Amino acid sequence: MNSQTPSFHIRDLPIYGDTVLSPMAAYSDVPFRAICRHFGAAMHYTEFVPTEALIGDPNPLWRRLDVHPAGEKPMVFQIFGYDARQILFAAQRIEAWGADIIDINMGCSVPKVSEKGAGVGMMRQPRLVAETFRLLSTHLRVPVTGKLRLGWDETSQNYLEIAKIMVDNGAALVALHGRTRSQKYRGRADWEAIAKLKQAVAVPVLGNGDVCTVADIDRLKAYTGCDGVMIGRAALGNPWLLARIDREQLTFGEVTAVLRHHLHEAIRYYGPTDGLLNINRHLRKYLSGLALKPFLPAFQAVQTAVEFEALLGEMETAVPPHLPLADLRQIPHFPLAGKFTAKHAERAEV
Ligand SMILES: Cc1cc2nc3c(=O)[nH]c(=O)nc-3n(C[C@H](O)[C@H](O)[C@H](O)COP(=O)(O)O)c2cc1C
Repeated sequence: MNSQTPSFHIRDLPIYGDTVLSPMAAYSDVPFRAICRHFGAAMHYTEFVPTEALIGDPNPLWRRLDVHPAGEKPMVFQIFGYDARQILFAAQRIEAWGADIIDINMGCSVPKVSEKGAGVGMMRQPRLVAETFRLLSTHLRVPVTGKLRLGWDETSQNYLEIAKIMVDNGAALVALHGRTRSQKYRGRADWEAIAKLKQAVAVPVLGNGDVCTVADIDRLKAYTGCDGVMIGRAALGNPWLLARIDREQLTFGEVTAVLRHHLHEAIRYYGPTDGLLNINRHLRKYLSGLALKPFLPAFQAVQTAVEFEALLGEMETAVPPHLPLADLRQIPHFPLAGKFTAKHAERAEV
């Protein structure tokens, strides 16, 4: 968990801890960030928001910049855009909404974003990067940071050039996902590049890509010298990783306890209907790799949070809470899960 001594500073903001949940659209929302905060995430990134959605009237995307009532410090609002003045306008507007840091997404590879020149598409426009960071760092009170990929494709890996432009124009931290746009999520993340970036800039660096275990966190830090480790996909259904606990060390009871906490956060934030949709998306991740597939349809059919919790209780009765997760992987069809499914099938027929 967080120590008393800051691991590093973003400008004058102390950062306690060195594991950070990646910004992830549809996942790194208020409820999941609450769970990750519990496990000691050092910073809290929102899902990315297009600046176009921030310059006009209120709309559903504004919700992505909600902050948990218990507070999330430091809170990073991540935005993306195509035009420096529009990015500045949006950033000035949202600065007052609770941002401790504003981050520019320069890593999104989705064609409808990147091919229009935002996300990783910004990396092909060094002048736009310079102007954006100059404007933001001049006109905002909060630090401005950016998240990059290696570049557009294999032949145009310009992350060092872009990072230097960012820092020369006031960026206070650079996060690097060690893949190009054309790789999307294929191949291995290039940690060597993260090491080169750390050598090249005088601001803190977050290394990102393919961190799946506690050993990976330590390896990435040792190999690159990065200040913090940003963890994306491997933290889904597995927030323990942020506290340097591997999934293999957990018991089934520990997983269901966190799932119950997550359910409460989701219902509190989204309300009963959307809260159930939200928790079911995460449930798949919490149970991923375990021999518990038969339980999933019953969870998806529930109508209320009370029913969801009752099902959780039944699952806890069917599967001993003290059972290590490692053992649950090895049982191809967990026998009690079969009985559970049969019971729910009977209920559905009545
Ligand atoms: C479902 C999903 C949504 C994502 N959304 C965002 C986003 O909103 N902003 C961003 O900068 N990166 C986003 N990313 C990229 C991740 O932050 C991260 O860079 C990438 O997954 C590599 O890290 P990993 O190997 O630890 O998953 C997303 C990734 C996934 C899988």
